[in-house]
Amino acid sequence: MADAPKIAFGSFAAPQRGVLVVFCDDGLKFGPATAKALGSATGLVARAAKAERFTGKSGKSLDLIMPEGLKVDRLTVIGAGKLADLKPQDFVKFGGVSMGKLPSGASDATVFAELPAGAKMSGEAAADLAQGVLLRAYAFDRYKTKRKDDDKPPQKRSITIATGDAAAARKAYVAREAIAGGVLMARDLVNEPANILYPEEFARRAQALKKVGVVVEVLDVKAMTKLGMGALLGVGQGSRRDSRVVIMRWDGGKKGEAPVAFIGKGVCFDTGGISIKPAAGMEDMKGDMAGAACVVGLMQALAARKAKVNAVGVIGCVENMPDGNAQRPGDIVTSMSGQTIEIINTDAEGRLVLADVLWYTAKRFKPKFMIDLATLTGAIIVALGQEFAGMFANNDELSHRLHLAGEATDEKVWRMPLSPFYDKMIDSKFADMKNTGGSRWGGAITAAQFIQRFVTDMTPWAHLDIAGTGMDSRASDINKSWGSGWGVRLLDRLVAEHYEK
Ligand code: BES
Ligand code: MN
Ligand code: ZN
Repeated sequence: MADAPKIAFGSFAAPQRGVLVVFCDDGLKFGPATAKALGSATGLVARAAKAERFTGKSGKSLDLIMPEGLKVDRLTVIGAGKLADLKPQDFVKFGGVSMGKLPSGASDATVFAELPAGAKMSGEAAADLAQGVLLRAYAFDRYKTKRKDDDKPPQKRSITIATGDAAAARKAYVAREAIAGGVLMARDLVNEPANILYPEEFARRAQALKKVGVVVEVLDVKAMTKLGMGALLGVGQGSRRDSRVVIMRWDGGKKGEAPVAFIGKGVCFDTGGISIKPAAGMEDMKGDMAGAACVVGLMQALAARKAKVNAVGVIGCVENMPDGNAQRPGDIVTSMSGQTIEIINTDAEGRLVLADVLWYTAKRFKPKFMIDLATLTGAIIVALGQEFAGMFANNDELSHRLHLAGEATDEKVWRMPLSPFYDKMIDSKFADMKNTGGSRWGGAITAAQFIQRFVTDMTPWAHLDIAGTGMDSRASDINKSWGSGWGVRLLDRLVAEHYEK
């Protein structure tokens, strides 16, 4: 892993070396401290801007090498755009842009967290900037052993964020850093190949959360058999690797208060099973545990920032393989809820895992709400692409809160319908239900309808289909990694806004 940069907060003193990053608006104006630090180089910036047609548009940038009159090796000017259009979430993005603009060999940088007069960049905004730096600095390069010296990132990178309120920034940064840590943990899990990260190993990695005070329990096959988790176990039975369910508890709230619950699909590899997938692109199915990765990252974040909430995370970890012992199309399994399921397609395995894990969570914890995350269907990618996750919910308030948290974190969700018509599509001739809708039409919806049969109307519930956002992610200013860690920031925000009173 590329080492995380060391972050410090300081005051606006002109840096003596390394890279200086500053912000301007769409009129190429600087804040007072920035203008002072630039001094005589201000004219140079104006000339360079003209030559490069840099106008200060949001997220665009201008580089000056060895700028005359400054001690630094490089000056990067980042556009903040029209100040009236600034959104709170822009600062995390600006941090990402700042980090992205550093040359790969740069070991020292100073970022001036200042905007032109009239627009304030608070200590909190400076902390956001720092979080963006951390998120962008991540690279999954654990298995790159042959990198040339001039291609290696420096061993130690230190980045100083200059701000008018370093004390406030440091204070706000504690939680921001904890959250970023959770995101990076989730990314690591998603990027890790399936020969390394199989269900037992996943459970071991989740145990690391004990360090931050999370109580971690692991259910093995014997325990799950006893509980009657026939749907989950059926998926795992074709694999040489045993299945696991991991339960993580963070009790930061009032004693005895019902917890909020997060449930993740942890299919460590999805070959499709006997209904095997085509070869092309199958390697991507190492990421079919992105839902579970998000839950682990979220629990890590909540605990590390000592969130005042009772939260439980439950993940179902399995490997879906074809084998002499694999389940067949036509098999009928009995879920923990007692409902029977006819397996039509062994590749529709995620919903089988979730069925038992959701039922178990509701029964054991009687949570305030349940939110599940799963790379569940190709159909949601057809519908929404890589920009929005699909959201299905039985509760308007929870849905609305998730929508707003999505806007605020730029991990956006789009609500999709549930309706009895779709529910009928999964009725079975031989059992209580079948595990696919029979046609590809409405594939993400029939999957959600299936899961809903394992949630009682009493529990507010939302299902997030993250097949398009959790893995093979589109690059952004704060993420260049294949595994995005999608959902950690969204759900942390949801908890912070509504459930930490
Ligand atoms: N893990 C896949 C869904 C998926 C596809 C995730 C592409 C990420 C990228 C899931 O288990 C699956 O195979 N779903 C099937 C369901 C079908 C058999 C009803 C699908 O979407 O084709
Ligand atoms: Mn599948
Ligand atoms: Zn799958």
